[in-house]
Amino acid sequence: MTNLLINIDHVATLRNARRETVPDPIQAAALCEMAGADGIVFHLREDRRHITDRDVRLLHETVQSKLDFELSVNPEIVALCCELQPPLATLVPERRAEVTTEGGMDVVGQGARIRPVVEQLLEAEIEEVALFVDPDPAQVTAAAEVGANTIELHTGDYANAPTYAARQREAARLAEGARIAHDAGLKVHAGHGLDYTNYALFRETVPHVAEVSVGFAIMARAILVGMEQAVRDMRRIVHTPPPPSTPAARS
Ligand code: PXP
Repeated sequence: MTNLLINIDHVATLRNARRETVPDPIQAAALCEMAGADGIVFHLREDRRHITDRDVRLLHETVQSKLDFELSVNPEIVALCCELQPPLATLVPERRAEVTTEGGMDVVGQGARIRPVVEQLLEAEIEEVALFVDPDPAQVTAAAEVGANTIELHTGDYANAPTYAARQREAARLAEGARIAHDAGLKVHAGHGLDYTNYALFRETVPHVAEVSVGFAIMARAILVGMEQAVRDMRRIVHTPPPPSTPAARS
């Protein structure tokens, strides 16, 4: 079964838009957990545009399920992550002008910068250290070479594909990336842009996915139908196994 981890950054974005104290991402995380989330994800960005240091400390203290700390290779944030020792740390690229994380890490080109950070996180006894990468065989292989034990496949191109045929092609790329990662001994996670309607093809096509991280789609639905309903609806979809005849089930 694939686990559903829920990204609560979007709650903090809404709070910060009015320089308010509500909605509080800590309360959102608790509601997600009570509705059945398998874990909570946050990204502490260098510019602190959504999640703040206060949020990180409170999430660390209060989250009962699996906590995924997303971070760049920024030394100050890496040090904080090492101090808090979440069960999962996911390294992502960060560009200040971007609206959200755009594209995976360039592990092939930046391996020399990424390797020591992976080592530092593993030495801090963080059990799973993931690299967020595009489904590019070279990047996936490089992730294993720099010592990561997990990858998160970037599903943005899949989610944004303009046609169903294009989405099928992207699903096939993700499936190949997942197989290469699995064969290299890496645990496979995935995320970005996954939602209530595009998940089915992903589930049927991409094997070996232990966890997905979903944020925007759940928060967008929660505003209209409530957090509990939004989480339960996505959880049901993610926890449904691929039908036996599909490529993902046969892998
Ligand atoms: N995984 C990573 C590494 C991300 O940066 C994000 C976006 O914050 C997500 C997953 C979740 O993406 P979305 O909010 O589109 O579901």
